[in-house]
Amino acid sequence: MSQSATGAFDALFHENRKFPPSSEVTAHGNISDPAIYEQARQDPEAFWDARAREQIDWFHPWNQILDWKPPFAKWFIGGTLNASYNCVDRHAHGTRANKPAIIFEGEPGDQRVITYAQLLEEVTLAAAMLRHLGVQKGDKVAIYLPMIPEAVISMLACARIGAPHTVVFGGFSPDSLADRINDCGANFVITADGGWRRGKVVPLKDNADEAMAKTDHVKRCVVVRRVGDAAAIHMDPDRDIWWHDAEAQTRAAGTTDCPPEQLDSEHPLFILYTSGSTGKPKGILHTTGGYMVQTSLTHKWVFDLKENDVFWCTADVGWVTGHSYIVYGPLANGATCVLFEGTPDYPDKDRFWSMIAKHKVTIFYTAPTAIRSFMRWGDEFPARHDLTSLRLIGTVGEPINPEAWIWYHQTIGGSRCPIVDTWWQTETGGIMISPIASLTTTKPGSATFPFPGIDADIVDEQGDSVPLGGGGYLIVRKPWPSMLRTIWGDDERYKQTYWSRFENIYFAGDGCKRDAEGYYWLLGRVDDVLNVSAHRIGTAELESALVSHPKVAEAAVIGIPDEITGQAIAAFVTVRSGIVADDALAQELRAHVAKAIGPIARPKVLRFTAELPKTRSGKIMRRLLRDVAEGRVTGDTTTLTDPSVLAEIRSQYEATEG
Ligand code: PRX
Repeated sequence: MSQSATGAFDALFHENRKFPPSSEVTAHGNISDPAIYEQARQDPEAFWDARAREQIDWFHPWNQILDWKPPFAKWFIGGTLNASYNCVDRHAHGTRANKPAIIFEGEPGDQRVITYAQLLEEVTLAAAMLRHLGVQKGDKVAIYLPMIPEAVISMLACARIGAPHTVVFGGFSPDSLADRINDCGANFVITADGGWRRGKVVPLKDNADEAMAKTDHVKRCVVVRRVGDAAAIHMDPDRDIWWHDAEAQTRAAGTTDCPPEQLDSEHPLFILYTSGSTGKPKGILHTTGGYMVQTSLTHKWVFDLKENDVFWCTADVGWVTGHSYIVYGPLANGATCVLFEGTPDYPDKDRFWSMIAKHKVTIFYTAPTAIRSFMRWGDEFPARHDLTSLRLIGTVGEPINPEAWIWYHQTIGGSRCPIVDTWWQTETGGIMISPIASLTTTKPGSATFPFPGIDADIVDEQGDSVPLGGGGYLIVRKPWPSMLRTIWGDDERYKQTYWSRFENIYFAGDGCKRDAEGYYWLLGRVDDVLNVSAHRIGTAELESALVSHPKVAEAAVIGIPDEITGQAIAAFVTVRSGIVADDALAQELRAHVAKAIGPIARPKVLRFTAELPKTRSGKIMRRLLRDVAEGRVTGDTTTLTDPSVLAEIRSQYEATEG
């Protein structure tokens, strides 16, 4: 790394403020001895073995902690368990029976509180219903639902019978849903008549119909009635059934008993698709034992979870954050979780704060992009509500700039709540780099340190660890329990993508710097993956959507800094001969991408060019495009996503990869 890049970095990170945990937090912390880091470092397997015993109820214990045949790992071999048993059954009797597991609020304001005892009834009946419809252990179930209790119940019902789910975010297009169904061969779909978004209905069943027309896999489709107008919904009598009718049939058939399957520790729990550097999203496979251990442990330690906490993670269950920190981690810990269908600005920009006051939320976990929007909207919105129930706040999904961190700390956290900035990925399954609320002194903008038992490091081009003060690529040297097991159906791609840049070492795709005190500062992606509003989108996926339009000859997509969304999508397009490249076409192409992938993929900027800059071998020179695009962006960016140090790391990466 050049002197100048490091200098620019230091200037940007002129962040010396420190926030130690309060003595009250440390005195009552779930984990209060920092020696745990060293213990875990010396014997990570023993560390995870002990945590697996504490965190999870197993039907049968394991006889081997880890089997590591790079790049394939198995954890807790021979152990059997059930994720739904751990999330539901074990809390449904005794002191937590009447404790709320889910506090649901719909966008229109409807509410539903589900206790652990009720959740057990719901999950058991839903699992029995799936069996009744023909779902068997190992079958894949696609879940395409709004943020309603049935989304969580469906996931747990699948887990109960050993049917891996693939949850598809309700904002994704019919094509995206069809691709995912086809890729994993899902024979069953669970959807809803619709979901609410800013007062309008998102037509999920219509979208699902369009998707199912593009695949031969789907045998049955269960439809939850969420928005009401049943007559407007097309139901294929051979394939589709209303959720409530299917449950009634199951009851009538007397087949409601559905004890949890005793599943192998490595039984697939879910496949979740995420964007990569090719046009095809990758099906990230997570299995049961290791995933449950790490998600529940990190939830308990990072957030210092207490019995009376009301935990609200604002993610959608369609993303990994929703899987790990709305469903599996918190429910395994017997926590009370808030589930919210709506958006932060509907009907007004104080919706989140009114939710916190109403439901007495104690732990709030959201993305920096949301925090930056809140800042821009102004302090009057949080000021309308009593936020004193909060005791801890967290962020995830992208780097948080110190300014947003401080605003979050003061305005939402009342200058009293610790902030946990948690770095992890769809692939890592659970939190990897993060403060532990009861132990860690934080610095605004830093995710601080790797979690105990996680062997992360920062390396240079050659794979050598960089000294303190240096920057490079974030890697993980040893397997961890909740790591992805493979890319569904493509072991070779799994190996190439994650374990080949540095042999048998996990390459995360992020640039990172470590300061003089060993704190980690995440810098953003070094590969062709964008992070827009804390959502991952691959440039290749966007480019293939653009060139699928008949008027487009070629397209190149890059990320540009954006004050609110972190990065925004900028597309450079050349048109076919004879086509007029005008504003109307630009609008048409932006809409085309939104339709092909989903509204989050709509390019913010779309420019026509006569040619795209390329190397002799034909590789698009993204660096030049970035220079062009950033030259046109007015004003300075306050985000950390693209400091010069990252530009440098990224251009080195591009030089070696390309
Ligand atoms: O670039 C990193 C960024 O989000 C990427 C992972 O995206 P995804 O798989 O969609 O999962 C998001 C939620 C876990 C990472 O490669 N990222 C995530 N958390 C942080 C972050 N960047 C900086 N700081 C974070 N706390």
